[in-house]
Amino acid sequence: MVEETPQRIESALLDEPSAAVIDAVAELSAAAATLGKALHPKTAANLAGLVRVMNTYYSNLIEGHHTRPRDIQRALAGEFDKDKDRRNFQIEAAAHVRVQGEIERQAAEGSLPEPASADFIRWLHREFYKGAPDEMLRVKGKDREFVMQPGEWRSKPEHDNAVGRHVPPSSERIGDFMKYFEERYRIAGLGTAGRIMAIGAAHHRFNYIHPFPDGNGRVSRLMSHAMGMSVGIGANGLWSISRGLSRGLVEGPEGRAEYKTMMDAADSPRQGDIDGRGNLSLRALNEFVLWFLRVSLDQVTFMSELFDIDRLAMRLRAYVERSETLKPDAARLLEEALMRGEVERGEVSRITGLPERTARRILGSVIDAGLLGSDTEKGSVSLRFSDEALEFLFPRLYPATATN
Ligand SMILES: Nc1ncnc2c1ncn2[C@@H]1O[C@H](COP(=O)(O)OP(=O)(O)OP(=O)(O)O)[C@@H](O)[C@H]1O
Ligand SMILES: [Mg+2]
Repeated sequence: MVEETPQRIESALLDEPSAAVIDAVAELSAAAATLGKALHPKTAANLAGLVRVMNTYYSNLIEGHHTRPRDIQRALAGEFDKDKDRRNFQIEAAAHVRVQGEIERQAAEGSLPEPASADFIRWLHREFYKGAPDEMLRVKGKDREFVMQPGEWRSKPEHDNAVGRHVPPSSERIGDFMKYFEERYRIAGLGTAGRIMAIGAAHHRFNYIHPFPDGNGRVSRLMSHAMGMSVGIGANGLWSISRGLSRGLVEGPEGRAEYKTMMDAADSPRQGDIDGRGNLSLRALNEFVLWFLRVSLDQVTFMSELFDIDRLAMRLRAYVERSETLKPDAARLLEEALMRGEVERGEVSRITGLPERTARRILGSVIDAGLLGSDTEKGSVSLRFSDEALEFLFPRLYPATATN
């Protein structure tokens, strides 16, 4: 008999975290506090846009939905593939970028609600599937087929399904489970270190409950993103969790299996008397939280190196040097945009030390190369990152197969 009271998700929090967990919390918050600090806010905002596409790429990839970054960019520009399946993947990718952007906007203006609240989570799901064709909402299984309602919990027996070896609570209990979930993971009720540890714990327990018929994986990763922003380790959107969940801590196929293995291990029932007092193993939760923290730290460290302003300037210069279409003077412009966030079109001649017309030609070539752009035709220009330049400017951000 499976226990159906919401307490089934206990132990939900680490009341007595291990020394390794405490160290990881300290390291993560210190690393996140410095990520992007040397960047001009405008440059940082453009890089956060890159991170949104990257997080989306990996979050969908985890579900086996492969959409290349350039196809995500095209979707954001309203250009969709003719092929129906690819188009649907593009639609969900664009939605993911949009929802993540909205989370970050709310966090920046201080209006982000409790990320683990039932209302917020249902909003995430509703927004993620807003405008999705019925076909994307259709859930098909061995003996079932139905169209999912965005933002609605599982509510009928046909919505219930196993996740790997794990059987989540049945549909009629989801409302109660999620109410309990909200109470346990309210950030407002936790201290700073407690909040940071709660991100991984909530990530697992959410997927354990599996409140929606589909889309739980993506929504849980967006919820984790919101929790990170909310507890102050979000670094204005300059890092995100999905790349790390997808790749794990060790290089190669072993690392790519870590997420599933760790999720599965955290489903374990309590083992004996010194494993907490709940239905689920406290020791396994501790291991999962530790893994989640290390994955987070690994991502923050990686992004800090990738977005290090001196090294980024060097790679921009090197990119210009090896380019066949860009003149060496283009490097000055790019560097100026990097350091100052944006450059007025009228300043280009002064910056490059070239006559007006030549300078304008150089600016045109950099815009054509997709490395500078502006919101309006005459407006000041800031950095952009073209698909062609991605792998060179941001090595290892994507697997090699994604950017060719
Ligand atoms: N053993 C497990 N216990 C709890 N959660 C798990 C387990 N294995 C995987 N998960 C979570 O479930 C998600 C995928 O499961 P599933 O494909 O059923 O979810 P989903 O509802 O289809 O979500 P999505 O549509 O985003 O894939 C994974 O991304 C992971 O977060
Ligand atoms: Mg799915």
